[in-house]
Amino acid sequence: MFISLEGSEGAGKSTLIDSLKKFFKKNKIEFLFTREPGATKEGQILREILLDKSIEIDPYTETFLLVADRLQHANKIIIPALAKDINVLSDRYIDSTYAYQGAGRGISQKYLDQIMEPLNLPMPELTIYLDLPVEDGLKRAKYRDELDRFEEEDIKFFERIRSFYLDQAKKNPNRFLIIDSSKDKEEVFEISKNLILKKLNEK
Ligand code: TMP
Repeated sequence: MFISLEGSEGAGKSTLIDSLKKFFKKNKIEFLFTREPGATKEGQILREILLDKSIEIDPYTETFLLVADRLQHANKIIIPALAKDINVLSDRYIDSTYAYQGAGRGISQKYLDQIMEPLNLPMPELTIYLDLPVEDGLKRAKYRDELDRFEEEDIKFFERIRSFYLDQAKKNPNRFLIIDSSKDKEEVFEISKNLILKKLNEK
């Protein structure tokens, strides 16, 4: 099974991933945890460029770099794992591009469809979105680390991204599920774990 995890800045993706890793290991459920951008060697180089705030990047260049990272990621990591029946959980995937480059930067959905559709990228069967009010997430992100090129954007950029994700959940209720990440991290883990186990059992 292929799952993607999406979330706004500071929404707690890393904490949730740590708990899920421990849980699956303990229960001997095989899961490959991966992420975008930067899962492959070439992707790590692309990630460095993408997050470096001293580099100015055109929104289309940004999109091409992210899609290049995704194609390498899909071909080298995701598709081979799924072919061996290994479950995959990717920290960010295709919805991030529609959210950040589409809703955030203003690139049309049609254009993003045109560049990604020919690539035959595998689609997740389940996407979990950790939702948090934008200001709360940015406060957490600022407290945690130095801000990267994306995190330096203004609040309206992140509001557009959040609205996009919330809208996606309405449009794709079978695949796309929202978890309120202002809840306690234990509760966020319990809800996510149960959603994943339910999907695994359905297969
Ligand atoms: P991360 O902080 O979750 O590791 O992600 C790095 C940044 O990359 C995050 O701010 C969102 C951004 N991003 C996009 O803008 N588009 C994409 O398609 C992906 C995968 C990430």
